[in-house]
Amino acid sequence: KAAQGQPTRVVLLGPPGAGKGTQANAIASRLEVPHISTGDIFRRAIEEGSDLGLVARAHMVSGELVPDGITMTMVSRRLGEEDASKGFLLDGFPRNVDQARYLDETLRRSGDVVELVLELHVPAEDIVRRLSGRRMCGQCGRSWHVEFNPTRVEGICDTCAGSLHQREDDHQDSVRRRLELHERETAPLAGYYQDKGVLSRVDAVGTVEVVSERVLAVLIAHSAGSRAEATPS
Ligand code: AP5
Repeated sequence: KAAQGQPTRVVLLGPPGAGKGTQANAIASRLEVPHISTGDIFRRAIEEGSDLGLVARAHMVSGELVPDGITMTMVSRRLGEEDASKGFLLDGFPRNVDQARYLDETLRRSGDVVELVLELHVPAEDIVRRLSGRRMCGQCGRSWHVEFNPTRVEGICDTCAGSLHQREDDHQDSVRRRLELHERETAPLAGYYQDKGVLSRVDAVGTVEVVSERVLAVLIAHSAGSRAEATPS
């Protein structure tokens, strides 16, 4: 079980390339909850050649969102699995206000709420550089960067020795579309969660390690706040 007072139902927000996937594993293992990435689930379905994968790919390659109905059904199925009963770190979901309301409603049925939303903030010019230099491991799915987070041997994953490739939706047109969609559909979620009092904004410019330290500081502050609230005065 995660340490007392630690949030266990957490959402990671941020534009494409903000570093959500890069930070997610460390956060999930600290909180002892599964990392659930809708993008990863779709990419796995594409690799498997399933019907879901076929539909998802058509939208993803052009930088569009996969339709809400498909995404929501898939997320609610995943949240119903045993390992998610103790909590989760959601990465890439929700992505618009309808999805956020759906998540609230799904959690409400089991008496739960989103406890913390970490918003990684990165200016647009950094995002384009991050995405154009990103390389993915075809085997373990880890993301690297040719300049900012390079592997020891070019083209080979440090973690599992798998080969690296560029993501299909990291080409220029698709990136532009994803950023526009983010501004229009996803950025308003910060206000949605701010109103609920669960939003923490993290400056995600700096090295991967520096950003990890800032994220950790937010988690520690959140846990300390929860413990203080739980302690009768
Ligand atoms: P998804 O996979 O969720 O993509 P995304 O949100 O666009 O985010 P990315 O994976 O591109 O970026 P990231 O923030 O994880 O950055 P990373 O850590 O890799 O979704 C893909 C598609 O699936 C969507 O476009 C949509 O079509 C569909 N989809 C998914 N969810 C959906 C939903 N809920 N509804 C509908 N459709 C949905 O980092 C980026 C790069 O920067 C890497 O190279 C990394 O090494 C580097 N980097 C990381 N941190 C730093 C740092 N601090 N300094 C320098 N470089 C860094």
